[in-house]
This record gives sequence, structure tokens and C-alpha cells, in this order.
Amino acid sequence: MSEQQHRNKSGFETRAIHAGYEPDPMTGAVIPPIYATSTYKQDGVGGLRGGYEYSRSANPTRTALEGAIAALEEGEKGFAFASGLAAEDALIRSMCRPGDHVVIPDDAYGGTFRLFDKVAKVWGVDHSPAAVSDVDAVRAAIKPGVTKLVWIETPTNPLLNIGDIEALAAVAHEAGAKLVVDNTFASPYLQQPLTLGADVVMHSTTKYCGGHSDVVGGAVVVRDLDLAEQITFHQNAMGAVPGPFDAFLTHRGLKTLGVRMDRHCDNAEKVVEFLSSHAAVSQVIYPGLPEHPGHALAARQMKRFGGMVSFRVTGGEQHALAVCEKAEVFTLGESLGGVESLIEHPGRMTHASVAGTDLEVPPDLIRLSVGIETADDLIADLDRALG
Ligand SMILES: Cc1ncc(COP(=O)(O)O)c(C=O)c1O
Repeated sequence: MSEQQHRNKSGFETRAIHAGYEPDPMTGAVIPPIYATSTYKQDGVGGLRGGYEYSRSANPTRTALEGAIAALEEGEKGFAFASGLAAEDALIRSMCRPGDHVVIPDDAYGGTFRLFDKVAKVWGVDHSPAAVSDVDAVRAAIKPGVTKLVWIETPTNPLLNIGDIEALAAVAHEAGAKLVVDNTFASPYLQQPLTLGADVVMHSTTKYCGGHSDVVGGAVVVRDLDLAEQITFHQNAMGAVPGPFDAFLTHRGLKTLGVRMDRHCDNAEKVVEFLSSHAAVSQVIYPGLPEHPGHALAARQMKRFGGMVSFRVTGGEQHALAVCEKAEVFTLGESLGGVESLIEHPGRMTHASVAGTDLEVPPDLIRLSVGIETADDLIADLDRALG
């Protein structure tokens, strides 16, 4: 089946395994080789083979990854970056100019907030936080003619709020702005924002897309070819690209995204059920729970509810820190989306950079990235740690 047929006709898992790469015509290699080369022989000056000139501009291992992620997000063009934040930086600089304004989530990932607050702002791109779950609040935060981007995460990190992608795309477009969706938490398996009207999808591929906690990376996918051209220019001009080894690892992870996500969701549901009835837990935050304010919306725009679970404990910050330290199967660490379960204290770890701002998270909050281990072992571990 040709590349185009994969994009147009195949199911998600088929695209995950085949899109972006045809077995190498010379050797038949089924898996994209790691092209550890910085440059390419030209057949006469300017006579490029397959468009490859220099590996900052393009490298075949990276091209395969970019094709695969574009196909999974149902976009036209994918771009791989050295990290999620490198992808965000390239997007901001491709789409904004000094004097422009961006609406960001009021519970954005700490690093995203830091990028806007401490870097973009210095270069003249200002931002306002708004709750992604409140369409009117986002509309009110837009400065007509000045706001160029509405930037959302859904579910958000770490409070798992849900934004209505279709409604927020309409709000952004009414104001002449574009909607960027950080789809890291859902992954393209659970949610495809471009099909709901978003203009840009970005990922920290370090998380579910790579899926094995062995590589840092980022990605951007768009449908609009003019926008694609701007990002192509900036990706090359700024140069924050992944090397071929990293591109290979991320692409290998993508192939099993569907099966991994289903197991992440199965295990998360079991963990949520356990935590919901535990006396030391004051609140469980998971979009799959009927009482979650975004439940109906998440059910509409996501295939399932994901592998991330946040919860608050009855004993305050000290108790939350103790639970994080006592867990054994859940590894105490930052990041998320890998096959192994992780536990963390957002207030002191991933979200320490938002302390003292409007984006500060509750001190008794714990965030879990539920992995794909045996569910009973995960529950026994939490039981022990909470006890
Ligand atoms: C939702 C979200 N977006 C973006 C990022 C940044 O990605 P990276 O760490 O790959 O630079 C992260 C990292 O944790 C994240 O959780």
C-alpha cells in the first residue's frame, strides 16, 4: 500500500505501523534505518537525491517519523523537534511577532508557562492565562487584533481539565487567531484535534508517543500548507531538530501507541476505582469519572480518558510528599507517558516554576502516570504508600 493510501484509508494502528516509510527500495529494510549522516552526496551541484542536502534541514530517519505523526494526527505535514519545548519555541517564533499576544491555559504545564512568561515575553510576545474549560473566559482573554494564538492543553497538566476543542477553535477563528492544542496528555490515539478544527497540534513526544522514557522529543502537525511552510523555515533556521537515533526511538514508540494507550486507560480506570474509595484520598481527578466537570465533553472528543490520574490526600502537603516517597512500583519522578508508572508531587516538582503565580497547584496534589504493569501490583503499591 502506498504512503497516500495509508494516510487516506487505513485504521489508526495500521497507520502507526506503516505510515511515513516504505521499505527501503535497495535493501527492503522494513524499519527506517538510522541515517547517521550530517550531509549527502550531490549528483552535480544542487543535484540532491530525494531532496536531502544537510541533516538539520532533513534526514530520512526524521522524515519517516514526521510522516508517521502527521498521519496519526490526520494532518498534512509533521515536524519533529529535539524536545516538546523546542517545538513550542519554534511554533511561537513561526506564528507570533513582537507586540502579539497569546492566551494560555491557567493551569498550563509549568515549562510552557515558563517559556511564555520568562522567554517569549522578553521578546515582546505577551500572554494571558484563561481556564481552558471555560469558553467564555477564553473569549474574554482574547485581545482582538492582537491575540494571534489561543494555546490549550486538554486534558491539562496536572489538573486534567477538559477544553472543548471545537468551540475554542471557533472562538479563536472569530478573533482571527489560531488554535494550538498541546495533545501530549491524550496522544493522537485518544484525540485528534485537527479533525475538530484546531490549526496546530503539538506534542512532547517524550511522553506517550515515544512511550518508553528513553528519548526526549517534540512534534508539531498542521494541515495548512502556508503554515507548514513557515514552520519548515523556522525548523531549519532555528535548528532544534532531533538526531536520527532519537527520531528512530520515537518512531519505534509510535508503532505501539494504540495498544499501549488501551492498557494505560485500563489500568488508570482500575487505579481510579481504588483511590475513589480510599479514606485517605479527598478527591480523585480523572475525566472518566461522571462527576468530573469535563466528563461529557471528554467522552465526546476523546476515544477513552487516558492514563493520567491526579488526586488529593486528606493529610495535606506532608502526607502527599510521604506518599510519593513511599511508593515503590510507582517510581518517583518527573515526566509521564512511559510504560512504567510514575508518581510525582506537582507543587514541588513539575509545577514548581508556577509557585506564587495564578497557576499554582494545590500542595496536597499527587499526579500519577499510570503505566502498563499488572494493575493489581499498582493498586497494592498505592495502598501501601497511602497507609
Ligand atoms: C503537556 C506538556 N507539554 C509540553 C511539555 C514539554 O515537553 P519536553 O519536556 O519534551 O520539552 C511537557 C513536558 O512535561 C508536557 O507535559
